[in-house]
Amino acid sequence: MARVIAIANQKGGVGKTTTAVNLGASLASSEKKTLLIDCDPQGNATSALGFPKDPARRTLYQALILGEPTDRIVIDAKVDGLDLIPSDKNLVGASVELVQMENREYRLKELMPALRDRYEFILIDCPPSLDLLTVNALAASDSVLVPIQCEYLALEGVSELLDTLMRMRRTINPELAIEGILLTMYDDRTTLSKQVAADLRSFFGAQVFETIIPRNVRLAEAPSHGMPVILYDIHSKGAEGYIQLAKEVIENAQKRVGQGAERADSGAGAADSGEPSSASTTSPTAAAAAAAGGDTGGSNSGGSSTGPGTE
Ligand SMILES: Nc1ncnc2c1ncn2[C@@H]1O[C@H](COP(=O)(O)OP(=O)(O)OP(=O)(O)O)[C@@H](O)[C@H]1O
Ligand SMILES: [Mg+2]
Repeated sequence: MARVIAIANQKGGVGKTTTAVNLGASLASSEKKTLLIDCDPQGNATSALGFPKDPARRTLYQALILGEPTDRIVIDAKVDGLDLIPSDKNLVGASVELVQMENREYRLKELMPALRDRYEFILIDCPPSLDLLTVNALAASDSVLVPIQCEYLALEGVSELLDTLMRMRRTINPELAIEGILLTMYDDRTTLSKQVAADLRSFFGAQVFETIIPRNVRLAEAPSHGMPVILYDIHSKGAEGYIQLAKEVIENAQKRVGQGAERADSGAGAADSGEPSSASTTSPTAAAAAAAGGDTGGSNSGGSSTGPGTE
């Protein structure tokens, strides 16, 4: 059963698509069969994987709005183990058309049963907004990964996003966890990057992935060659970063399975949201889920989470 992770931040240009494409390719190269859903009408993930605009290509639009089966839309992303549901500008229409539709928040979620069994990870690249497409992505997901650029005003908009996530948990998707906050475009030569990274860590504590994605020109060049960075320049710092991130995501998934098994043994936790409820857990997901389930007004203590079940 796939873990479905939305990659979201309504702020533009923070590295969502770069993360979706390169985490996807890195998971696939670790032999975790992965599907990337391009949920952004800009279609950047689609073109970054080497699929230029083509009006004849079926996209997420056909599945979401016209109800076509996803197996007619999924394509091989030309990376072993990685598939893609492409997007194009027609999806702009989708966010408007969805408003009129029944179950408008759950159209993407309804596509998941046909996909979950075929993959170990499903990543959803969200547009830079909190519109119905993003709501559909968050409703369909188990967790959300939030890339934040290491720059001045990095935190701007993050509290709005966390408010939205909490609202989603209360209404549309009570199970939504925070996969982690990812620091992107980190430049270790500048004190600003270091300061921003330190601030974000003290604010979000264990919710932040240990992996930091460096600013790396190879990451910016790879999309114009239509390939993920691990195929474009495997030895680059950017490739290293995303391979490391994939390891962290896989390890967290394995920990969750372990904790789930323990809980099943003890018969506890049946009523919570599927996240670890142990008081001693230090996993970013658990701490993040606890924060998302509680008050996000300040830093969490990291490692003393009591889990979302206490809400
Ligand atoms: N770590 C990095 N180092 C260097 N350049 C990067 C890095 N991450 C992303 N970029 C570049 O920054 C720009 C924005 O990145 P990206 O498209 O991934 O952001 P996004 O959040 O998906 O943007 P949007 O909100 O428009 O969808 C792109 O040109 C990308 O190539
Ligand atoms: Mg993008």
